[in-house]
Amino acid sequence: MTLLPFPEPLVRKVFICNNGKCADSQQSLEIYETLQGMIHEQGLDRYDSPNRIKCLLSGCFDICKNGPLMVVHPGAVYYQDVDQSKLRTIFEQHLLRGEIVEEYVYQRENKISLPD
Ligand code: FES
Repeated sequence: MTLLPFPEPLVRKVFICNNGKCADSQQSLEIYETLQGMIHEQGLDRYDSPNRIKCLLSGCFDICKNGPLMVVHPGAVYYQDVDQSKLRTIFEQHLLRGEIVEEYVYQRENKISLPD
């Protein structure tokens, strides 16, 4: 029997809340599907990609406002009110270039900015 190698640690993980409390769950699903498509287009879902990104729909983050919320690890960067336009900016700026999109951040490690 041949054993598969243990998966390498993933460099980045993205979770999108989809509990229907802070945003319509259909909206979260559409954000997830768009992001999956962008990740795939860039080949970032390939197992052998050094910049692999794993994206998952999640349950509630116990914040439940300004959703859909999307958290990017490492760094625990929470983005709020994510729509298709913000998603593209977050993808290009944060996930491709490694620069946090500060204007869309709800909270992140060592920094909390609460909405009105
Ligand atoms: S459902 Fe989005 S944080 Fe609770």
